[in-house]
Amino acid sequence: MKIKLFLVILLIGFISCNAPKKNKENASSQSITKEETTLHKEADITTHPQSKGYKLMQQKCYICHLEVPDPSKRDQMIAPPMLRVQEHYKPTYPNKEEFVKAVMAFTKNPSEEKTLMPGAVKKFNLMPKLPYDDAELQLIAETIYEHEFGQAPKMKMMASVLQLNNGKKWVLEKESIQQINTIIKKTTHFKATNIEAYQTLGKAVFNDAKTIMLNDAYKDELFDQIHNFFAGIEGNMHALMAVTSINEAEKQLTELNKKLQDFHNYFE
Ligand code: HEC
Repeated sequence: MKIKLFLVILLIGFISCNAPKKNKENASSQSITKEETTLHKEADITTHPQSKGYKLMQQKCYICHLEVPDPSKRDQMIAPPMLRVQEHYKPTYPNKEEFVKAVMAFTKNPSEEKTLMPGAVKKFNLMPKLPYDDAELQLIAETIYEHEFGQAPKMKMMASVLQLNNGKKWVLEKESIQQINTIIKKTTHFKATNIEAYQTLGKAVFNDAKTIMLNDAYKDELFDQIHNFFAGIEGNMHALMAVTSINEAEKQLTELNKKLQDFHNYFE
């Protein structure tokens, strides 16, 4: 996998050194830069397969990312399919402007701190930092937001049913267990009058979950099971992070708390 990634990076270097087209490209990216602060509204700039945003995404991102999961290419995958990226970013950033900002920020400088996909980071390693033009990146990020990737086969990369370890609980590090207990405490009887407090709680829970998932000590089957557990609460965490009504927040929080209690039935 490392070798493949290395080849890909070489290839990117090669493509970006490939000068003839450059002048024309520069001229057009400058014209985009001028309107940088406003998002491109016309859908055809970003979603049509022949659109500039879509073409840029193909050129610059599909070197590593597939568009949608493809079971026949499962073993060659070196990055999560773009559909999955959209699925992880949209619930957390339903607003287009925030979505674009988050995708751009990650792409310009990938970090574990910013990741919304700790499972992908663990499986593929952090996305390499590559030089991208800001204006082009904005068009690409808008495309990822707008594009209808369609229904992909529900292919799970790992066994998706949470299971015991031959009838016994999986043994985790003490810190991880303490962290889960803290999360459970935080989410029990939480009450607030402002929506931001719920969103902040959602982010805090997600960050704690991330720390456990990114722990290098967890590998193979054990990691898959940890991943399965967090996949089960991911929807609630995402929803809470972007929640817009107190009612909805309380519903998500109750569900989240209930699922979290289940942790101790599988891990110790
Ligand atoms: C050299 C290979 C490579 C290229 C090229 C690449 N990516 Fe990635 N990308 C990855 C890998 C590997 C991951 C999964 C690990 C991660 O999330 O850091 C990823 C993950 C992501 C994520 C999810 C981040 C997270 O963890 O929350 C976003 C967003 C993303 N890529 C955007 C892009 C965009 C936009 C482009 C094109 C401009 C692009 N990528 C090009 C390898 C690549």
